[in-house]
Amino acid sequence: MSTSDTLMAGKICLVTGANSGLGKATALGLARMGAHVVMICRNQARGQQAQQEIKQRTGNADVDLLLADLSSQQSIRQLAGDFTQRYGRLHVLVNNVGSVFLRRRLSVDGIEMTFALNHLASFLLTNLLLDTLKASAPARIINVSSVAQIVGFIDLDDLQASKKYHMMRAYAQSKLANVLFTYALAQHLAGTAVTANCLHPGLVVTNIWSRPLPGFLRPLVAMLMRSFGITAEEGARTILYLASSSEVEGITGKYFYQCKERPSVDISYDGSIQQQLWKKSAEMTGLSS
Ligand SMILES: NC(=O)c1ccc[n+]([C@@H]2O[C@H](COP(=O)([O-])OP(=O)(O)OC[C@H]3O[C@@H](n4cnc5c(N)ncnc54)[C@H](OP(=O)(O)O)[C@@H]3O)[C@@H](O)[C@H]2O)c1
Repeated sequence: MSTSDTLMAGKICLVTGANSGLGKATALGLARMGAHVVMICRNQARGQQAQQEIKQRTGNADVDLLLADLSSQQSIRQLAGDFTQRYGRLHVLVNNVGSVFLRRRLSVDGIEMTFALNHLASFLLTNLLLDTLKASAPARIINVSSVAQIVGFIDLDDLQASKKYHMMRAYAQSKLANVLFTYALAQHLAGTAVTANCLHPGLVVTNIWSRPLPGFLRPLVAMLMRSFGITAEEGARTILYLASSSEVEGITGKYFYQCKERPSVDISYDGSIQQQLWKKSAEMTGLSS
């Protein structure tokens, strides 16, 4: 057994959106390093299939599956309660879940779906698990953002794109929100041994871009992704680095790409925007009361 097989032994790691793409590759990598992995998936069959595959490929039996629809705040609250009761400790939280929606859709809570799933889900789940993370410190929070944050524009008066919806704009805004949230969270956690960082994984061959498109366009997009993209396992490297490397011990409030700290878009450093987004997110998730 090599050191890397045991690097994360004794650590409880939660990964959202863990049955495919980057989430699955992250769960696999953490399981390989000996972590106790808790996969969060919305579909039992897809979740179990990925869970079995990860157990088989790593020989790690401590790979659990919890079901939750992360676009539903009630489901997130249930998940956080179940998780805390069952495990009581959390060392690494990977907020990976994310998707793209061709047309404007509302979540069960009546919130625009991209914002609800890509930002508010991570915001709410993280806040509900903060006490557990603090009690388990040192602990790490990792938010999977995207290079799309660079073109992101936060419309604080219309976060849900109710006036004009465009898939790419909604996605970019949500990925900028991931960065703004990470920086505000790192400040919020100052003085604790819980860190918060975010990252761009690269252009990764997954179904995220082909899934929302009409059937006839899917093969074309899939082909383009295969031509220019990296594999999910390659894309997960920065996530795994942030989750496990001693090089980033105590590093917090940073944006990474290819396992290196990088600058994010200027607006992401604006403390006033970070605070306004936090306040609105707290209101939209019922945390402000
Ligand atoms: N791929 C890229 O090039 C790229 C680049 C930059 C950033 N990212 C980011 O990486 C993250 C992962 O994306 P990916 O490319 O790996 O996409 P993916 O393969 O589509 O994975 C998304 C995962 O989220 C799950 N999910 C979707 N909606 C959910 C819900 N309501 N509740 C619970 N789980 C849900 C999916 O489950 P189902 O199988 O049930 O749908 C799937 O497991 C996203 O945050 C994305 O923005 C990706």
